[in-house]
Amino acid sequence: MAKKGKSTLSAPKGMHDHLPFEQPLWARVSRTIREVAEFYNFLRIDTPIVERRALFERSLGETAEVVEKQMFALRGADDGLTLRPEGTAPVARAYIEHGLSHLAQPLRLYYEGPMFRHESPQAGRLRQFHQAGFEILSSENDPLYDAQIIVAAFRILEDLKIKNTTILINSIGCRVCRPTFVRRLKDYYRGKKNICGDCKRRLTQNPLRLLDCKNEECAAIKKEAPTPLDSLCAHCKGHFKEVIELLDDVGLPYALDHHLVRGLDYYTKTVFEITTEGYGPSLAGGGRYDYLVGILGGKETPAIGVALGLERIIEVIKTRALAVVPKIKPKIFLIHIGELARHRCLVLIEEFRTTGIGVLESLGKESLQAQLKAADKAASPFTLIMGQKEVYEESIIIRDMKTGAQETVPLKKIVTVIKKK
Ligand code: HAM
Repeated sequence: MAKKGKSTLSAPKGMHDHLPFEQPLWARVSRTIREVAEFYNFLRIDTPIVERRALFERSLGETAEVVEKQMFALRGADDGLTLRPEGTAPVARAYIEHGLSHLAQPLRLYYEGPMFRHESPQAGRLRQFHQAGFEILSSENDPLYDAQIIVAAFRILEDLKIKNTTILINSIGCRVCRPTFVRRLKDYYRGKKNICGDCKRRLTQNPLRLLDCKNEECAAIKKEAPTPLDSLCAHCKGHFKEVIELLDDVGLPYALDHHLVRGLDYYTKTVFEITTEGYGPSLAGGGRYDYLVGILGGKETPAIGVALGLERIIEVIKTRALAVVPKIKPKIFLIHIGELARHRCLVLIEEFRTTGIGVLESLGKESLQAQLKAADKAASPFTLIMGQKEVYEESIIIRDMKTGAQETVPLKKIVTVIKKK
């Protein structure tokens, strides 16, 4: 509580505390991520939250919105550092730095942690948010890995009971066919007078993102614009066709989205986002990034990955009231009367620990009344009461909270008795 006259401080804009009552849901989401990762043989990697700004400038593209406007650059002793806006470039950096290409390939890596983007906060858009990312790096540019990444992300949502999801998918080509497409796109847009200011800028700086425009005034123009699919080379076409066939084989729901281009420059070929009906922002996004390791100075290594936005997933779980958090195992409640009992109870808790039975207590010096009240609130099935008499007799009282029935049991048998109950 703030002192009178002093203004209170709040968390920075777009950044949230995860309070104790929210932790079970976060833990459940993390557990699902870990289980899916382990099933599909992804190995955990953690990279620093702070990276060199140059890493993102080189990999995401200097004109990418994330780099140009949204980096949390740090000032101080070590200029040129920034809070990471995403996890793929750091993974590629670590892959090169630690020679991870020597590990068995394909290398499947996953991570979970906070990312930072200086966006204007709104529904589903935060400045600090959490992602779970999955990346497959390999010497092979195999469409099977594209499908495996999409399947992993999809299974996480499915295991969290999020239904009515769609995988929006597209191919944006490779360094052979992309320039042809970009030329066609620029030629098309150059003739248009009524495009928005953003699109005018995109036309010179980042033409692919013209297809990403959400402004009404550009909608009709965008609808008729050439799409990457029309310009794909034979190799990219074959790759994309196989990815789609694999999604069909596994039976995942997808929709071709010819305008999907994604906001980060490192993407090639397959790009995708996963959405759920009735919730606007995408829950996950990813794609292939075959040149990223090469761009960062490593041996060219084809790769594909995805990141899921955990705040968005949690919001969907909450608004749909999905029952994904298992009920908490009931615990017994320990009540003490007097100092000797208080000490003896501390030892008893340790005896219960070895059996896995949970114990709630009020071992602070609370009154009997306060303890009974706390026991009632905790909704424990049994309360154990130890008074001075019980300490001397080496016994304890068990109270069945449902029936109110009480019995006295020798202390050395209490753990076995509770176990049986
Ligand atoms: P991204 O599309 O920028 O891709 O982010 C992936 C997911 O993170 C989004 O679908 C969304 O759920 C969540 N997300 C992004 N920005 C925010 C925000 N400001 N607030 C809340 N959630 C957000 C990437 O970051 C790539 N690194 C994904 C990837 C991995 N590509 C290849 N491998």
